[in-house]
Amino acid sequence: MSQQAENPVHFLEVAVEAAEEAGAIIAEAAHRPKNISYKGEVDLVTETDNKAEVVILARLRHHFPAHAIVAEETGASGAEASSKYKWYVDPLDGTTNFAHGYPVFAVSIALLEDGEPLVGAIYNPVTREMFRAIRNEGAYRGDARIHVSSVEKLSKSLLATGFPSHKRVQNPNIHYYWEFTLRSHGVRRAGSAALDLCSVACGQFEGFWEFGLKPWDTAAGILLVREAGGAISNFTGDPYHPGDRELLASNGLIHAEMQAIAAQVAAQEPASLAGNPG
Ligand code: IPD
Ligand code: CA
Ligand code: CA
Repeated sequence: MSQQAENPVHFLEVAVEAAEEAGAIIAEAAHRPKNISYKGEVDLVTETDNKAEVVILARLRHHFPAHAIVAEETGASGAEASSKYKWYVDPLDGTTNFAHGYPVFAVSIALLEDGEPLVGAIYNPVTREMFRAIRNEGAYRGDARIHVSSVEKLSKSLLATGFPSHKRVQNPNIHYYWEFTLRSHGVRRAGSAALDLCSVACGQFEGFWEFGLKPWDTAAGILLVREAGGAISNFTGDPYHPGDRELLASNGLIHAEMQAIAAQVAAQEPASLAGNPG
């Protein structure tokens, strides 16, 4: 086994290179007409999602043939899913924005070790910012260490959320959106969960929540938030694992307040929506 075979720095280097290569493809396509297909009623995919995913997978497979990979557009490949190392790849997070020419989208790549995020890279091809983290080694934007904000009150916080493109009617989030909007400086709904989590990690947003996110949406972003000093859980404060029903990410200081509001909303949710993430 080579010296680099289990080296997180090497894992991150490859993830960063893959995200930059995919990001260049996305940036180049951003101003051209889009070839849009539908995976669901409003679940868009473009040929750029697929092209970006192809270059990422080629790089990961070349460097890590023994690792498992789960990518949004092609599903599982590589080694057995039970492999110690598993990559989650979102080649273009914010496809709806990309398709409409709204410049908020990113590439998100994470490696999990025994189910826990070990490295993460999120690249914004519009601003050319690279967000990256290795477990227990801090979070960075470019070469600068980043930290969550020090705001202590929900009433002084800027929040973010998102709404999934599938089973929209069953999703309870509108009730949470209403309540959090009234109790904070506002709730942004920018359309890229990966970038929302980067914004929590670098202190632009104090908190973020969403229902029904997939592992490739969150695996890199939750590592960034943790390594920037923030908190990650579900609404009841239990550990969040990529793919769980709901995610609550915050600077840690407003976490309990957000959980309390969420509990209040859950208690009032129409019965038909309770426990149904869509
Ligand atoms: C979507 C974005 C969006 C979130 C959706 C995701 P995609 O990812 O992260 O912010 O609200 O739930 O599906 O489909 O653009 O990769
Ligand atoms: Ca996504
Ligand atoms: Ca995507």
